[in-house]
Amino acid sequence: MNLHLAILLPTLLVAAPPPEFAPPEVPPPGVARPANPDPPKAAASFFAEGEAFMVAAAHPLASEAGAEILARGGNVVDAAVATSFALGVVRPHSSGIGGGGFMTIHLVDQGSFALDFREVAPASARASQYLDDDGAVVPMRSTTGVWSVGVPGHVRGMQAALERFGSMSLAEVLPPAIRYAREGFEVDSLLADAMASALARAEAFERLAGLEPGDPSPFDEFRRVYLKDGRPYEVGERLTQPEQAATLEAIARDGIGAFYDRDGSIATRIEDAIASGGGPMTAQDLADYRVRWRAPLVAELAGRFASTSADCTRTVVAMPPPSSGGACLLQALLALDGLPAIGDPEGSRRFVEAVRHAFADRAALLGDADATPEVADDVRRMLEAAHLERLREAIVLPPRSAPLDCGLAGLSSSEDDASTREPATLPEDGGTSHFSVIDAHGNAVAGTDTVNLAFGSLVIPAGTGFVLNDQMDDFAIRTDVANDFGLLMSERNLLAGGRRPLSSMSPTIVLEQCGDGPARATIVAGAAGGPRIITATLGIVIAMLDGATAGDAVAAPRLHHQWMPDRLLVEPQVFPSLRELLTLAKHVVREVDGLAIAQAAARREGRVEAASDPRGIGRPAGR
Ligand code: DON
Repeated sequence: MNLHLAILLPTLLVAAPPPEFAPPEVPPPGVARPANPDPPKAAASFFAEGEAFMVAAAHPLASEAGAEILARGGNVVDAAVATSFALGVVRPHSSGIGGGGFMTIHLVDQGSFALDFREVAPASARASQYLDDDGAVVPMRSTTGVWSVGVPGHVRGMQAALERFGSMSLAEVLPPAIRYAREGFEVDSLLADAMASALARAEAFERLAGLEPGDPSPFDEFRRVYLKDGRPYEVGERLTQPEQAATLEAIARDGIGAFYDRDGSIATRIEDAIASGGGPMTAQDLADYRVRWRAPLVAELAGRFASTSADCTRTVVAMPPPSSGGACLLQALLALDGLPAIGDPEGSRRFVEAVRHAFADRAALLGDADATPEVADDVRRMLEAAHLERLREAIVLPPRSAPLDCGLAGLSSSEDDASTREPATLPEDGGTSHFSVIDAHGNAVAGTDTVNLAFGSLVIPAGTGFVLNDQMDDFAIRTDVANDFGLLMSERNLLAGGRRPLSSMSPTIVLEQCGDGPARATIVAGAAGGPRIITATLGIVIAMLDGATAGDAVAAPRLHHQWMPDRLLVEPQVFPSLRELLTLAKHVVREVDGLAIAQAAARREGRVEAASDPRGIGRPAGR
């Protein structure tokens, strides 16, 4: 039994017999869909159950947008796209059309797919442009302002998902997002905090640049759009975004060309905004942007997490590079799968060792596999039986021996880690939003969208009402200098034109296949929170494989280790006995308020359930 189950066991319920499920009637293509649906409302609590479909997103209105589309007869991909666009409006600090992301998709009759609409570095970008004359990293250049912006992939990603698997058009799934932007919504505490931290970041950048009050600033448009009389909105105040509504309407009306074509109305404004600050991204970069359909990482569970039914197999579908999430999550999960279940706290100590080794491999080996083909080989090596066995031997050794080889590259955590900064703050989900969608048939989408830090680059193209991302900070600028999330990365993730930066986003789906039947999704999970995404998603998947409900799995206390900085982060609820063991195992234990914000969904016995993280403000919706 691991940490999660130790906490969850008292609340585990025996599943009730499944009620009869009648699939929603789906009109054939071309037939008008009901104009006046009865849209499902977000649940009052962070956990909800139903019989047909569920959407758990990081904001209640985004869950409702997805559920509304499903209620109108759309499929899980239509719902995912509607949810994703809506998130960009109601969480404008954490995702949206100025960013990018990943989707893992499972469709019972078509299989599993991974969609990569991650940003790419502008063609002319080079790591050296982010260094000063002495070779030091220029402060804030990769996190704030025009140099921090990667070419956004979101809009093309949404179009690609709909084109391949959707039953609706962009114009049919955009209305909820447009409505939220036009009519507005109440500012929540996370958005208010994000506005305050963005304002502080803008001021810090302006000080560094030597700007005086009243000087033109790259953030004037941000202040006009997202501050109220120069101050952050207060919780409960209404935020309307008429310019973002008009931008989304242009996409619904004119298609994605408005955003990506060289002379598109939005592309031109993006180019102007970047050019006014001398940044590298051009309209040609936008025109050249392409999404990638990738083969997902797929692994069958054969040990402690295997299906309890002899007739069934369980398979995990995870995101391949440029996500590091899939490889790290699968490596740790498969290593633990091959070890016997063991009680807390030792089970949790093993969890920590497994993720620490995975993060060491991340640092040394992972990057954009299109730019560095060796990455794909090393992902295979990370998941090879022999390596997993070696990991298991290291994981079970108590207490931790120092120095300890970590990962394939044999990196040691006893190295001088002076160059890895403790992240100054722990933005729980500042610039990222996750959503999980499932239906009773076993179709599912796990989607994670990001603009990186809260409000991304803080640059808004004039009159468009949306922020551009600051994904360039997910690259290594120097291999010995950590990024804003404290992550060290190798040459394989060095900033270079045309590359996609390494990501921690981990949209994950677990399938169950019984007898001759098709594989159906049973667990959908993912999170926001930089590298803490990986540990949070892994913990949730483990808890649910062990039988926890989505609600119990997302609520369970979390632990996070990312190899470097060599610190173990724990939430306050972690048991004292576990802390003692971890300290004995030579971990430097730091308590933090919250680690990541996750959204999970599940299907069992034909019923569906979903949970939004109680650390956030999301609520699931469905019926
Ligand atoms: O792709 C990544 O790994 C990061 N851009 C995610 C950033 C994130 O989750 C922000 N939330 N704290």
